[in-house]
Amino acid sequence: MIAAGFIPKAYSNSIEKGSFTWSSPSNIALVKYWGKKEHQIPENPSISFTLNNCKTNTKLSFTKKENDGNLSFEVFLDDEKKDDFKPKIETFFKRIEAYLPFLKGYHFKIETSNTFPHSSGIASSASGMSALALCLMSIEKELIKSDVTLSAVEKSYDENYFIQKASFLARLGSGSACRSLEGDLVVWGKHEEIKGSSDLFGIKYPYEVHSNFKNYQDTILLVDKGKKQVSSTVGHNLMHNHPFAQERFKQAGKNLSDMISILKNGDLNAFIALVESEALTLHAMMMTSMPYFILMKPNTLEIINKIWNYRKTSGSKICFTLDAGANVHVLYPENEAKSVMEFINTELVVFCQKGEYINDKIGFGAKLL
Ligand code: PMV
Repeated sequence: MIAAGFIPKAYSNSIEKGSFTWSSPSNIALVKYWGKKEHQIPENPSISFTLNNCKTNTKLSFTKKENDGNLSFEVFLDDEKKDDFKPKIETFFKRIEAYLPFLKGYHFKIETSNTFPHSSGIASSASGMSALALCLMSIEKELIKSDVTLSAVEKSYDENYFIQKASFLARLGSGSACRSLEGDLVVWGKHEEIKGSSDLFGIKYPYEVHSNFKNYQDTILLVDKGKKQVSSTVGHNLMHNHPFAQERFKQAGKNLSDMISILKNGDLNAFIALVESEALTLHAMMMTSMPYFILMKPNTLEIINKIWNYRKTSGSKICFTLDAGANVHVLYPENEAKSVMEFINTELVVFCQKGEYINDKIGFGAKLL
């Protein structure tokens, strides 16, 4: 599939107005995406766990305009008008306009809310952009008159197309958003050993996954709830001319290869080593950019050391990962949920801002509400 394949033929249906609501989860990368080419094409493939509880719910209402003019929309977060969200959405709409020719023909009202606190330092761009992309695809689906004579194979192609195009669009809003539509593991970025993988959209991980990873838990420790000092966009750009970039992109591909066998044979020790190395490598890239920056905080390191200590003394299979911020995602198998929560409550909450954390686990993707 090439990008032009997502440009639709003329719409056969016409609708005056309506609304769709989608709920889309966040995701946490195990092999990280850091560095991109033009048009949000990743420099390396990545894989993530889809989350279950951290979600964005978005209602998109649309009304046909008298004449196709400029893009026209308003945005609300928790029922409050949010004009400061508009530039990001405007950029997104402009990027996807060629693939959704109906965009200029409607006025849109976007009403969104997150199940996690807005000021938690957890990025809502992945869940937010994927929810919005799905709402837009629901409109397009209505505009393409459904053909009742479609065979089962053609219908499943339709469903595939819907989710692929939604992921393709979400990617143009925020790269990692293309991994938030399905679950429980999603790959984004072309990888020789992963059938169907693409730089253009995320796909459900297509191979066998050991039961050790079923219902994997993720407790997100909120170390710093403030706004990041350096945005992901700036961070990705600093990978251009980064002295270690090419080696890093190669390493990510190799790590994803290794992850295929880890996921198959359920080797938790190898999983821990790979996932923690990925997290620290991501931050090492930030620290060795020019200009350099650090997103971890002293408490991030306190937590990492406590986790290492606990693992050593208890034999637990707990590990951590980080995204582009100071918060720590604590990952562990479901059968350790009780003991790990005790450990978190006695030893780690002191390092969280206001003692706050979010309990989450692997999830299965977005839902139409
Ligand atoms: O989707 P973006 O552009 O916000 O980039 C996110 C990058 C990381 O979260 C740091 C890693 C990843 O693969 O999700």
